Amino acid sequence: MLFENRIAELREELNRHNRLYYQEAQPEISDAEYDRLFRELEDLEKAHPELADPNSPTQRVGGAPLEAFEQRPHLLPMLSIDDLFSEEEVGDFFKRLQKGLGLENIPLTIEPKIDGVACSLVYRNGALDYALTRGDGTRGDDITQNVRTIRNIPLTLGQDAPPLLEVRGEIFMPAEGFARLNEQRDEEGLDTFANPRNATAGTLKSLDPKVVAARPLAFLAHGLGANEGSEMVTEDVFRALLEKFQIPRNEPIWHVETLEGVLTAIRELDEKRHHLGHGTDGAVIKVLDFAQRESLGFTSRAPRWAAAFKYPPEQKETVLRDITVQVGRTGVLTPVAELDPVFVSGTTVSRATLHNQEEIERKDIRIGDTVIVEKAGEIIPSVVSVVTAKRPAEARPYSLPEALGHQCPSCRGPIEKAEGFVAWRCLNFECPAQAVTRITHFASRKALDLDGLGESVAIKLVESGLASSPLDLFRLSSEDLANLMLDPAKSSDGLTVSKERRFGEKRATTLLKSLERARYDMPLHRWLFAMGISQIGESAARELSRLHRKLSDLAGSQIVADLADLPDFEELSKSKRKKENHPRLKDYRIDDNLGPVAARHLRTFFESGGGQHALERLRDLGIDPESENYAPDAATASAGLPLVGKTFVITGTLSAPRPEFKSLIEKNGGKVSGSVSAKTDYLLAGEGGGSKQTKAESLGVPVIGEDKLKAMLG
Ligand code: IVH
Repeated sequence: MLFENRIAELREELNRHNRLYYQEAQPEISDAEYDRLFRELEDLEKAHPELADPNSPTQRVGGAPLEAFEQRPHLLPMLSIDDLFSEEEVGDFFKRLQKGLGLENIPLTIEPKIDGVACSLVYRNGALDYALTRGDGTRGDDITQNVRTIRNIPLTLGQDAPPLLEVRGEIFMPAEGFARLNEQRDEEGLDTFANPRNATAGTLKSLDPKVVAARPLAFLAHGLGANEGSEMVTEDVFRALLEKFQIPRNEPIWHVETLEGVLTAIRELDEKRHHLGHGTDGAVIKVLDFAQRESLGFTSRAPRWAAAFKYPPEQKETVLRDITVQVGRTGVLTPVAELDPVFVSGTTVSRATLHNQEEIERKDIRIGDTVIVEKAGEIIPSVVSVVTAKRPAEARPYSLPEALGHQCPSCRGPIEKAEGFVAWRCLNFECPAQAVTRITHFASRKALDLDGLGESVAIKLVESGLASSPLDLFRLSSEDLANLMLDPAKSSDGLTVSKERRFGEKRATTLLKSLERARYDMPLHRWLFAMGISQIGESAARELSRLHRKLSDLAGSQIVADLADLPDFEELSKSKRKKENHPRLKDYRIDDNLGPVAARHLRTFFESGGGQHALERLRDLGIDPESENYAPDAATASAGLPLVGKTFVITGTLSAPRPEFKSLIEKNGGKVSGSVSAKTDYLLAGEGGGSKQTKAESLGVPVIGEDKLKAMLG
């Protein structure tokens, strides 16, 4: 078969499977089969770049990052909508419609108001042309790249699509995906999003479509924008068109003609809306007939033919019985309100996060208080305020560190609140509440790269009692490991296909081998990073390892102590900021990756019981990793390294993943930065350099390939 035909066939087939999976939740093929078709298409497209198509299903994973969003005018203004806050105001709105149209009964639709981010999708000749945010209503940000990654948005409309169809709707994050994302971020020690709307808006602002592709966004259409080539006389005709082109529509929808009908629909929707799987904060009432809409017209900011009834956020009073503290998987201590159970926005709430100590003080929350509870963004229970009038005499202010006796509730280890942070944390390297996170991090690729030890295996190791801290891994026997039981494998459609599996001899041998490699060969900076000390990331670890010969030297390090004693850079004037001003530090030329805050975290760690214990265990195990870049004074630091003083930016597809090139450059004394500026010395560009390459060329920054880089390294 001609490759053109095969490409077209594969695109159609993949689009169909996408739809079955993401819109209808009825996949017909396995993930593996899908991947096979996907790869076949990818290969064909690579071999025939002249047949590239931005709306090909292969583009769903996201292309190169943008430098900034372009702005673009809307074909028709994207208006706002008037809010109605009571049934009385709904009555007034209905009367205005009756008067405006001179009719008693008016065909209307009622549908959920989706709590998301408004978006306009413009399809030309059956293909997605571009997508815009609302912006100021006249111009919006071009977020096409990001929108292409949203799996339930069709990129093509198939046969007999009109020449122009603008569909407006809402991009949002389903509640389930939102919960999963926050859980994952929490595990990674990242800030969580306050509600699905913020998560959606934050995600869409990303200039890197790969970030967007990894987030669970979805779209629902709720309105027609510009349109050519199809006659659209009512909302129902428009919705039928959406269905025909498989564009997901907002649902459920009510058809009514009287005020009584409107009010009933609004009440019925209130019952249903908490089970839609996404946030809703109102009911949108619209005139069904487009001719009637036209005769009603617009005010300057909103149409007269539509309005949004806003449901008041349901608030309930309850008693806060106690405050408990949860140890997060990264050691963050989160105070949690234990409440008398109340039914709010569709579920029973008996616990609500209080976020942190500052929040408790700001709201003056005390144990025994009567508090008002609501769901932020209709999803996450939160304590809004205290009913001070009902405060009992015995209610006492709460202090997290005092309530805990300055100890982690899980391991009794030391806790600390770092300057400039709101969270108290447990510092214990061996805290069992953090075991899974710590082991997973310890084993990760950029840390000690332990083969076959991902999160699911770490969970099993902890659950089975085989390991409760990373260093326990060095005591595992090959028998223990081989007999470890893992969860059953899942087939791609989510149906269980096998029974529980053993970790097995083969994987046990591989893991033990990589543990040996970690023990004897992994350099100091990898170990430092692997230990997961707060504020010690890869770059700080590398700088620390330049300044110390081996791990055991770090515990009593004068450099770390001197650095920790410096005031925070932010508080100093520029001239005093320099570490060079310190009598002892000036010879070390410590770079910006290692500052006083990181040094203080390091010192606290080594002084803590947990840190001491870890050092002791390392000593017992005979592990004392050595620096591979030891060069404590400036002269030695730069001696012989070919890329010293040079800043690189990397773009495009190279023969190996970009992080490998990054570490190659850094090993040779160079620096790697994320964006091209006048300070960039070289742009290392692979295939498809994109906007970075354009920018480099315009700034006169030399663009080099892999060969040139290798030549520079000799
Ligand atoms: S119809 C001319 N229907 O709410 C405006 N809007 O406050 C007609 N929204 O920017 C809008 N769900 O993005 C409509 N079912 C729905 C909606 C909805 C959410 C958003 C919309 C608009 C904002 C107005």
